[in-house]
Amino acid sequence: MQKILNNEQETCAFAQQLAKTLKFGDVIALSGDLGAGKSVFARALMRALGVKDEALPSPTYAIIQEYEGVLASGEPCKVAHMDWYRLEHAEEVEMLGVREFFEAPWISIIEWPERAMNTFPASLTHITLRYVERDMDQRSIEVG
Ligand SMILES: Nc1ncnc2c1ncn2[C@@H]1O[C@H](COP(=O)(O)OP(=O)(O)OP(=O)(O)O)[C@@H](O)[C@H]1O
Ligand SMILES: [Mg+2]
Repeated sequence: MQKILNNEQETCAFAQQLAKTLKFGDVIALSGDLGAGKSVFARALMRALGVKDEALPSPTYAIIQEYEGVLASGEPCKVAHMDWYRLEHAEEVEMLGVREFFEAPWISIIEWPERAMNTFPASLTHITLRYVERDMDQRSIEVG
């Protein structure tokens, strides 16, 4: 599935729709170049999951940030937002114990998943955001 997102609002709206479908253990991997909109998408997804403090800067740079959220079903969940940009090897990802986040009660959202693609469960939702034209607000989004 591929779609054009004309501006940041459309990106956020897409994330809101996705949030409605999420269930425990779901893993959302966000690929795309620097500035493609992965964090914008991740924050919109977290807001849609009822995360209150998703925009607060962390006291120190964190590879994994944990939040409390709520699924569309009304069940409370936990949300792990990860950014693997700084990791160089798949083994570093393994050492963080990330698999714990790939099951209930977690929803995980991962930027730069290509650092360790073989870590993921088969049920991964892999999203790629791409620039359509530089310096414009348009992006394409591909799911799957
Ligand atoms: N359609 C769009 N969707 C998302 N972001 C957009 C869009 N149009 C413009 N932008 C802008 O692009 C930037 C996206 O930044 P963001 O931090 O989300 O990128 P990123 O993919 O997380 O980059 P990084 O790899 O550095 O973490 C923001 O400044 C945002 O305002
Ligand atoms: Mg980012």
